[in-house]
Amino acid sequence: MIRHFAYFALSLLPLAAQTTQAEAKTIWDETSEEKEQRLEWFTDARFGLFIHWGLYSLAGRHEWVMKNESMSVDDYRKYFEHFDPDLYDPKEWARAAKEAGMKYVVITAKHHDGFCLFDSAYTDYKSTQTPYGKDLLKPMVEAFRAEGIRIGIYYSLIDWHHPEFTVDKFHPMSENEAERAKNSERDMSVYREYMRNQVRELLSNYGEIDVLFLDFSYPGEDGKGREDWDSVGLMQLVRELQPQCIVNDRADLLDYAGGWDYRSPEQIKPREWVTMDGKKVPWGTVQTFSGSWGYYRDEHTWKSTKQLLGMLIDTVSKGGNLILNVGPTGRGNFDARANDRFSGIGKWMQVNGRAIYGCTQAPEAFKTPENCILTYNPELNRIYVHVLDWPMGKLWLDGFAGKVAYAQLLHDGSEVQFKGWEEWQQDSAYGNAANTLPLDLPIMQPDVEIPVIELFLK
Ligand code: GLC
Repeated sequence: MIRHFAYFALSLLPLAAQTTQAEAKTIWDETSEEKEQRLEWFTDARFGLFIHWGLYSLAGRHEWVMKNESMSVDDYRKYFEHFDPDLYDPKEWARAAKEAGMKYVVITAKHHDGFCLFDSAYTDYKSTQTPYGKDLLKPMVEAFRAEGIRIGIYYSLIDWHHPEFTVDKFHPMSENEAERAKNSERDMSVYREYMRNQVRELLSNYGEIDVLFLDFSYPGEDGKGREDWDSVGLMQLVRELQPQCIVNDRADLLDYAGGWDYRSPEQIKPREWVTMDGKKVPWGTVQTFSGSWGYYRDEHTWKSTKQLLGMLIDTVSKGGNLILNVGPTGRGNFDARANDRFSGIGKWMQVNGRAIYGCTQAPEAFKTPENCILTYNPELNRIYVHVLDWPMGKLWLDGFAGKVAYAQLLHDGSEVQFKGWEEWQQDSAYGNAANTLPLDLPIMQPDVEIPVIELFLK
């Protein structure tokens, strides 16, 4: 939890404060049009799945359990020795994601504990060496691809298992003086090479990788940043191996052109379209069902389906993507709470996905009505009014008068009438503004978690 705060504090600093100098640095010289094109599928997709799965799933009490409980590599070994996800069926996961309307997945190939879900040639700390005995990543990638879901890889820059990784403030051994003293014998360049080799493996052996999520940097005192990771070299390698790949922003390269593709705030909702130097940038927020990324048996602050949908809609209304995380259990399935959210989201997305995919912020002239969120599809020239709290009979749309050709409830395509709006407009008893369009809604909320009204603009 401490570290969540640290990441936020860092990402909230103005860019200038995160970098030592303002001089332009370039990893590759892609034009902004080229970047926009490269990211087109991503900004259209809007909705993805994050999967945090690994040894910590057995502990069932946060993916940072090793750090939170100051476990040594030996203490943590019991999870490696008992890792046997006998119920693992990636086809089922992929189906769930597909039905929930998710268009891409990001899989933790290695998390901070250093355990690899893939059959790396550079370590034995991997699933093939556990009682399970098999590579977990390949079948997952294949299953998701078969459902038409794009593939992203999460790779932790941090590694609490690698012997050459120096003990720092986030390390499980941070309070252990004897372990700290051994830092002088540790050689981070060996670790850098290890990372490079693994990133090469991940970008060479699993076909096209659409997204790479590197996590994370905490430069400064007792931390680690771009020099420790050789972020520039790593990013150059990524661009060379898979130039189409979309990379997040946590390698401490915010001041490099080509050092990141999109911002990735987590756990809190950005209040507006994320900007850098005053310019709107691509962004994708990563969020959890509950208060943990890895499976957490006893954590009960699960968001409701409505809250999760609200989060998705809100994100799209600010021009961003939402990637929602699931933490499968140690046996390799999703627990009942997760299944419930997947199906609830799927039920909504099946009929309302049109208000999400390819959508973005609505033009400013259209005011957001009370208790609603607006999304907008520029290609179709339609506005979607997501009604969070069902009003009584009329929904007043300021700034819409004369601009709407046709309106319907999206989930069933039933017409929403607005005839006679001129009359209403003239009666000041209802407090109308001159450019208000009152929609006639049924008194009862349709049986949809968040009903959506589709407005065909003139
Ligand atoms: C934070 C968490 C980490 C998680 C990541 C996902 O860095 O500490 O465990 O993998 O967010 O964005």
